[in-house]
Amino acid sequence: MTVSYKELGFVNTKEMFAKAMKEGYAVPAYNFNNMEQLQAIITACTESRSPVILQVSKGARNYADATLLRWMGRGAIEMMKKMGDAVPVALHLDHGDSFELCKDCIDSGFSSVMIDGSHLPYEENIALTKKVVEYAHQFDVTVEGELGVLAGIEDEVSAENHTYTDPAQVEDFVKRTGVDSLAISIGTSHGAYKFKVKPGESVPPLRFDILAEVEKRLPGFPIVLHGASSVDQKAVATINKYGGKLDNAVGVPEEQLRKAAKSAVCKINVDSDGRLVMTAAIRKVFAEKPAEFDPRKYLGPARTDLIAMYKEKNEKVLGSAGRY
Ligand code: G3H
Ligand code: 13P
Ligand code: ZN
Repeated sequence: MTVSYKELGFVNTKEMFAKAMKEGYAVPAYNFNNMEQLQAIITACTESRSPVILQVSKGARNYADATLLRWMGRGAIEMMKKMGDAVPVALHLDHGDSFELCKDCIDSGFSSVMIDGSHLPYEENIALTKKVVEYAHQFDVTVEGELGVLAGIEDEVSAENHTYTDPAQVEDFVKRTGVDSLAISIGTSHGAYKFKVKPGESVPPLRFDILAEVEKRLPGFPIVLHGASSVDQKAVATINKYGGKLDNAVGVPEEQLRKAAKSAVCKINVDSDGRLVMTAAIRKVFAEKPAEFDPRKYLGPARTDLIAMYKEKNEKVLGSAGRY
């Protein structure tokens, strides 16, 4: 059964990005795989009056079931209405790797999709992205493309080193594909180990020179930053204190994200920070209350901590709080 996102209460990213660009902030794109993560994202963004992009990866669809996830998204909209004035919510496919996957998401109510052809040769990336855009735009669904490869694991694609985005390619790519936003590689990477630094050493700055060059060539065009978790050291320390082992986990400093959010970066992707906060809370309950076996007693505190983390990000880093 085909369903339009408009019937489900989602919006595409067009207006969200136009407002974010004009006012100098970034829209949060938070990944979810289960109920507690979804509740936390919706609660935090409604309470902080922030627009939000709910991100679903191919892995999330495989884990939670594509049909269930779609209905959970719809349920989240209804829950939000009950909480008071709703904020704009987009349902977005993160790192789509084929036309078929993007089509399936569009047909089942997603308002936005990413087609990630960044690992393909340039002309193949253009051809695949263009095919997705042509299908998506018939239904007013927005499309994110990617140029340049992030170091680390990008879904099933792993790259040892960054291939920074080449600013000389961006105008041609956007013009020939018709994408609505563009993810670029300026030194971030996915996961909790973003930079190889010794304890106490500061991390290298992102390549803001590349971002500035991209902005110059694509004035007013929405840019996306993947791999933007900050890897909160408090969460890492809690995990390690209660039996975990995350050595030298480091993320993107908040200051650099603040700077990016004020530029043409209109969407900032965060998944790992949620995973860390959730794991820290659950480990703490398991260590302090070993007799506890009701999932609500450890997933509940994890959800509470997630809400606080997302609100703080919206308010203090992305600048998306209080915009609606
Ligand atoms: O960029 C990748 C996202 O963090 C999603 O990760 O493919 O493990 O769901 P996943
Ligand atoms: P992090 O691993 O830094 O949270 O990045 C998430 C992301 O880019 C999802 O697409
Ligand atoms: Zn990503």
